[in-house]
Amino acid sequence: MTSPPLRLGVNVDHVATVRNARGGPRPDPVRAALLAIEAGADGVTAHLREDRRHINDADMARLKAAISKPLNFEMAATEQMLDIAVATAPHAVCLVPEKRTERTTEGGLDVVGQHDYLLPYVDQLTREGVRVSLFIEPSTEAIDAAVLMKAPVVELHTGAWCHAVEVGDMARAEAEFARVAQAAAYGAALGLEIHAGHGLDYETARRVSALPQIVELNIGHFLVGEAIFVGLGEAIRRMREAMEQGRAQAF
Ligand code: PXP
Repeated sequence: MTSPPLRLGVNVDHVATVRNARGGPRPDPVRAALLAIEAGADGVTAHLREDRRHINDADMARLKAAISKPLNFEMAATEQMLDIAVATAPHAVCLVPEKRTERTTEGGLDVVGQHDYLLPYVDQLTREGVRVSLFIEPSTEAIDAAVLMKAPVVELHTGAWCHAVEVGDMARAEAEFARVAQAAAYGAALGLEIHAGHGLDYETARRVSALPQIVELNIGHFLVGEAIFVGLGEAIRRMREAMEQGRAQAF
């Protein structure tokens, strides 16, 4: 049996982070998104944070107007974001937890504890015609909760695994990777579309691409960092190559 194709969503948040360091218009995340698509990205991801620390409202509207590929709108499940998402009409919304003090999204959504709040929220987005993805921990509990909420897609948080690899804690890395692999198989068997992301680099993307249930990776920080050295187009081409090598190992 052949595995389904694996899409790459390029997250352009940190192009906006660099822009905002000076307050002017450069570098423009929309230009980065267009270049990413030219280099082989299947979609563009952007996170409109409540504090607008990188992507701002105008960026999101400009991204939606400019790109020819799907826009994945990451956001916290707030009333304000619901209105903006509905007005933007992206291809998909990925709901993420958000804390003002965090540097990046720490952990997945508390889909079990916040079930009563999230259930009608997901339902409303769905009724507005938005495809909902839930950014969750790679656990069976979180998958079960996502199924209960009738979300069609989950994105498995790969941050704990990637961090363990980065610090060389290989025992923990193997345990975390096993969690991702098990959650991907479990979720797909229950009919969910499985995405993954956070902290991925060429090596970890290659390895996770071998999990046949995963159909999309969302990658940002590493690609924007690599762009400094090899250019964004080349970083994306190398990433696609790593993903294809990994996919070829899919069992
Ligand atoms: N997926 C989600 C849901 C995220 O919140 C992020 C970080 O914004 C990413 C993927 C990309 O993570 P990274 O920038 O570490 O590649």
